[in-house]
Amino acid sequence: MDSESLHRKGNSGRSMVTKKPNETMRIIVSIFVGSVFGFLVGVSFPAFSLTKLNVTSSLICNFSKVGNKLSSNSSQISPDAPPPPIESRNNSLQSQNTTDLLKIWVPSNPRGVERLPPRIIANESDFFPRRLWGKPSEDLTHKPKFLVTFTVGINQKKNIDAAVKKFSENFTILLFHYDGKTSEWDEFEWSKRAIHVSVRQQTKWWYAKRFLHPSIVAPYDYIFIWDEDLGVEHFDAEEYIKLVKKHGLEISQPGLDPRRGLTWQMTKRRGDKEVHKETAERESWCSHPLRPPCAAFVEIMAPVFSRDAWRCVWHMIQNDLVHGWGLDFALHNCVEPAHEKIGVVDAQWIVHQAIPSLGNQGQSENGKAPWEGVRERCRREWTMFQIRMSNAEKAYYQEKGIDPSNFTSH
Ligand SMILES: *[C@@H]1O[C@H](CO)[C@@H](O)[C@H](O)[C@H]1NC(C)=O
Ligand SMILES: *[C@@H]1O[C@H](CO)[C@@H](O)[C@H](O)[C@H]1NC(C)=O
Ligand SMILES: *[C@@H]1O[C@H](CO)[C@@H](O)[C@H](O)[C@H]1NC(C)=O
Ligand SMILES: *[C@@H]1O[C@H](CO)[C@@H](O)[C@H](O)[C@H]1NC(C)=O
Ligand SMILES: *[C@@H]1O[C@H](CO)[C@@H](O)[C@H](O)[C@H]1NC(C)=O
Ligand SMILES: *[C@@H]1O[C@H](CO)[C@@H](O)[C@H](O)[C@H]1NC(C)=O
Ligand SMILES: *[C@@H]1O[C@H](CO)[C@@H](O)[C@H](O)[C@H]1NC(C)=O
Repeated sequence: MDSESLHRKGNSGRSMVTKKPNETMRIIVSIFVGSVFGFLVGVSFPAFSLTKLNVTSSLICNFSKVGNKLSSNSSQISPDAPPPPIESRNNSLQSQNTTDLLKIWVPSNPRGVERLPPRIIANESDFFPRRLWGKPSEDLTHKPKFLVTFTVGINQKKNIDAAVKKFSENFTILLFHYDGKTSEWDEFEWSKRAIHVSVRQQTKWWYAKRFLHPSIVAPYDYIFIWDEDLGVEHFDAEEYIKLVKKHGLEISQPGLDPRRGLTWQMTKRRGDKEVHKETAERESWCSHPLRPPCAAFVEIMAPVFSRDAWRCVWHMIQNDLVHGWGLDFALHNCVEPAHEKIGVVDAQWIVHQAIPSLGNQGQSENGKAPWEGVRERCRREWTMFQIRMSNAEKAYYQEKGIDPSNFTSH
């Protein structure tokens, strides 16, 4: 665009209705004038050397200082003060019409991003590694559609190696290292294509909150957020995904071998089914047959989320409640109808080995073993989460003027 066409735009702009000048306008005016100025300077020195570039940038710097001065002056004018005399407004008003036209403001952009033209906005990202050379469009030969994360310490190396091998090349592998040991995994070929995140002594849900933002993991259809102590002999990830799709499960987990460890009825593997979505628990444990832990329920050790379900669940994870206890009882809030879209896959099942790992990385306090302190905190977090959830619901109904006790049936 040459200065002539800029000028013409300015003229046509004059037919627009003027708004009362305000501070933002002024700032934009000075930025705009500044960039046009810089642009003109650039145009008038077509064959620029580096030293000349320095000159330009310092000119622009000086200019923007002036611009700041202008805008700070105008901020002294309070909204109720009478407008400045017409003469002094002439100049800025003139360019303001131009600015109104050229100012970008797109309300349908994400919040806080309204100033950008929509086509430049990259609102989502991914974990796909790229090359340092060549054409960006040719970087990715292969885009995995699924993501699996394990929160690991080096002591579970063998177990994780076995587990990762159950996930095909259609999975991005992301390891969260809670013991700071990352290079120790180099011996495995798959480790080279894995993403490694290392922050000491943090939990799976702490990592998930920080590194699995829904807009970062947006390319993945399903996200596995798994513990490190799972036996995967009878599990195949591709087959699992097929079943999850077939049965419309937005949140799921593989069945747990009922012979190993204590677990809820709901998450125990059944021999006679592909998946199950409800169960009978001990009397009085379920407020309703379609509510957790009788239905709409999976545990937090090996959950699998669809993209949409994860967007909701991520928002429910509390930054300070790092163990995630109680989250399993709230997952049903994220999908509708929960008792149909949450379920356990029996045909692809795992063994929960219940190896206390991160739990042992606590600190002894008051003569208690480290794991005791961790366990205590888990319970405390569970209570805190329940209270927060119920208060949040109450506050919502109160704002809406609804008395939930009037609607007893859920
Ligand atoms: C920018 O301003 C500084 C002092 O504020 C002055 O020394 C410098 O020469 C100016 N640069 C240009 C290119 O005008
Ligand atoms: C800004 O304020 C200073 C002093 O407060 C004044 O000298 C100057 O003229 C003002 N500039 C504008 C553009 O109003
Ligand atoms: C302001 O604009 C009017 C109309 O364009 C013009 O007649 C007047 O001289 C201008 N005043 C100043 C101070 O430039
Ligand atoms: C902006 O356009 C309106 C309408 O044509 C005009 O009245 C006003 O003077 C213009 N302002 C400037 C600064 O040109
Ligand atoms: C990001 O942009 C794409 C394309 O405009 C849109 O489909 C998607 O919903 C957006 N995501 C978010 C989180 O706003
Ligand atoms: C990976 O995904 C592609 C496309 O869906 C599929 O054809 C292929 O069989 C998958 N790989 C494995 C190992 O299942
Ligand atoms: C139910 O709603 C009515 C008014 O709509 C109100 O008077 C009553 O207190 C509410 N609560 C119960 C428990 O009935």
